[in-house]
Amino acid sequence: MRAENLAFMTGLPDGCCQLIYADPPFFTGRTHVRGNGAQTLADHWPGGLGGYLEFLRPRLRQMHRLLADTGVLCLHLDWHASHYGRVLLDEVFGYANFLNEIVWSYRTGGVARAWFGRKHDTIFVYARRIGGHKFNLRREGTFRTDGLNHDEQGRPYKNTRAGRLYFNAAGPALTDVWDIPFLSTVSLERTGYPAQKPEALIARLIAAFSDENDVVADFFVGSGTTPAAARKLGRRFLACDRSDKAVRLARRRLSGTLRPAGRS
Ligand SMILES: C[S@@+](CC[C@H](N)C(=O)[O-])C[C@H]1O[C@@H](n2cnc3c(N)ncnc32)[C@H](O)[C@@H]1O
Repeated sequence: MRAENLAFMTGLPDGCCQLIYADPPFFTGRTHVRGNGAQTLADHWPGGLGGYLEFLRPRLRQMHRLLADTGVLCLHLDWHASHYGRVLLDEVFGYANFLNEIVWSYRTGGVARAWFGRKHDTIFVYARRIGGHKFNLRREGTFRTDGLNHDEQGRPYKNTRAGRLYFNAAGPALTDVWDIPFLSTVSLERTGYPAQKPEALIARLIAAFSDENDVVADFFVGSGTTPAAARKLGRRFLACDRSDKAVRLARRRLSGTLRPAGRS
C-alpha cells in the first residue's frame, strides 16, 4: 500500500513478520532515472550523512520490534553508507545477533579508470535472537572435482583416514558471496523502476530465512520485487512505499498486467 513506512510500521503489531527485506535509498546524493525520465528516485540528504542515519535509525527500530522471535532482517546497502549501516544495526539489533554480510557481486557497464570497479552491494543479515532464528541451508552449484578419485559409479571422492569422503550430491553449501546478474536492459523482469533488484536475489533470501506461509515484509517495496518473489515461494507478504508510482507499478506487476520495460 502507499504509505510513509515509519507511520505504517508503527501501526503494526509486535512480532508479525518472519523476514524483513529493506532496500532503502543508498545515500548516493543522486536522482536515479529510468525510462527517459518516466521513473525517478531522489536520494538526496540535506542533513548529510547524519540526516540519512537519523532517517534509518527509527525505521530499523520498528523493524526490530516487528520481527518474530525466529525473525531475520536483511538490510541492503552499498559502499556509500554500508559501513555506517552496520554500526547502526549493531546498536539496534545487538552485535551478537549479526548473521551475515552478504556480498552481491554483479557486472554492469562502465569501467572505472582511477580505482577498481565498484561492482557489489552488501546485504547485512541480523537475527531478532541469534540461535532461535530460522535458517534453511541452501546448496547450489558444483564442487571442484578435478584431481579427485572416482568410484565405480563415477562419483568423485577424497581418500581420508576415515575412508572415502563423498561430496553432497546437492552441491556445495552457499557462502556469503553471491554472483547474480543485474537485470539486463532487455530482461523480461525489468519494470523500468530505478534501483529494481533481481527476483533471484530476493528469492534466495526468502528461501533461506523463511518457510511457506510465513510473512515476508518490505517497507521500501519499489517495483514490488519482494512480494513477487514471496508469492512464488508460497509466503504471505506485507509491503508499502511512499511513492504512488511505485505502488501502482507493484500492483500491476503482481496482477500480471505489466509489460516488461526492456521490450518495445
Ligand atoms: C531502492 S528503492 C527499492 C527498490 C525495490 N527493492 C525494487 O526491487 O524495486 C527504495 C524505495 O523506497 C521508497 N521509500 C524511500 N523512503 C521511504 C519512506 N520513508 N517510506 C516508504 N517508502 C520509502 C522509495 O520510494 C523507493 O521506491
